[in-house]
Amino acid sequence: MSEKIMMNWGSIHMQLLKKKILEEGQALSESILKVDSFLNHRMDPVLMHEMGKEFKRRFQDEKIDVVLTIESSGIGPGVMAALELSVPMIFARKRKSVTLTDDLITANVYSFTKKEANEIAVSNKFIGSGDRVLIIDDFLANGQAALGLMEICHKVNATVVGIGIVIEKAFQDGGAKLREQGVRVESLAKIEALSLGEITFVEEREGAIHE
Ligand code: G4P
Repeated sequence: MSEKIMMNWGSIHMQLLKKKILEEGQALSESILKVDSFLNHRMDPVLMHEMGKEFKRRFQDEKIDVVLTIESSGIGPGVMAALELSVPMIFARKRKSVTLTDDLITANVYSFTKKEANEIAVSNKFIGSGDRVLIIDDFLANGQAALGLMEICHKVNATVVGIGIVIEKAFQDGGAKLREQGVRVESLAKIEALSLGEITFVEEREGAIHE
């Protein structure tokens, strides 16, 4: 497939997502976007699959061994990215599980949105030294979840190849914090501003592969 055609395909994936956000998303305040009709509660599998294809397209020049995400809303886009990349997906757990009896790699994640701290955990059986990891999550706000997932990777000497985000709230500082660390962050939709009833996207070059 020529580069031109691939670039157009990419923009189709993103247009679908933006259309869905505009049609079904609700700006609850100047900082919170409700998208539970297709991402955070009910999931739209066709749209999720398109997201998986788009993440694959954006990270196609990287060798990736595993996708790492965090429960619960990262699992949909994470598993679709993993399907497209033909690699396994691991989700970090926030709650203790009776079956999680292996040695755990943990990190503390503070949520500014929920005003609570969670210890997240991944079994050391499924991620280890030398693994090349793509981190996927649904929202990027203050970046705490992504930083926690990166900490887990660093603890086991795995390499973070990049971070794929479905919706980045560009008016919060998570994106800047992660990019300052030199990690590649690819967001499928970037929101510039929210106000009651209005959602504004960051203007992006049509069909650009990299930001
Ligand atoms: P951060 O990781 O970027 O720092 O984000 P923050 O702590 O502020 O977010 C905590 C939770 O709130 C995360 O979900 C995150 O996805 C979600 N969140 C943040 N901003 C928004 C928003 O504008 N809209 C929606 N719908 N969610 C937002 P979580 O607690 O991990 O929940 P879940 O994955 O179990 O659904």
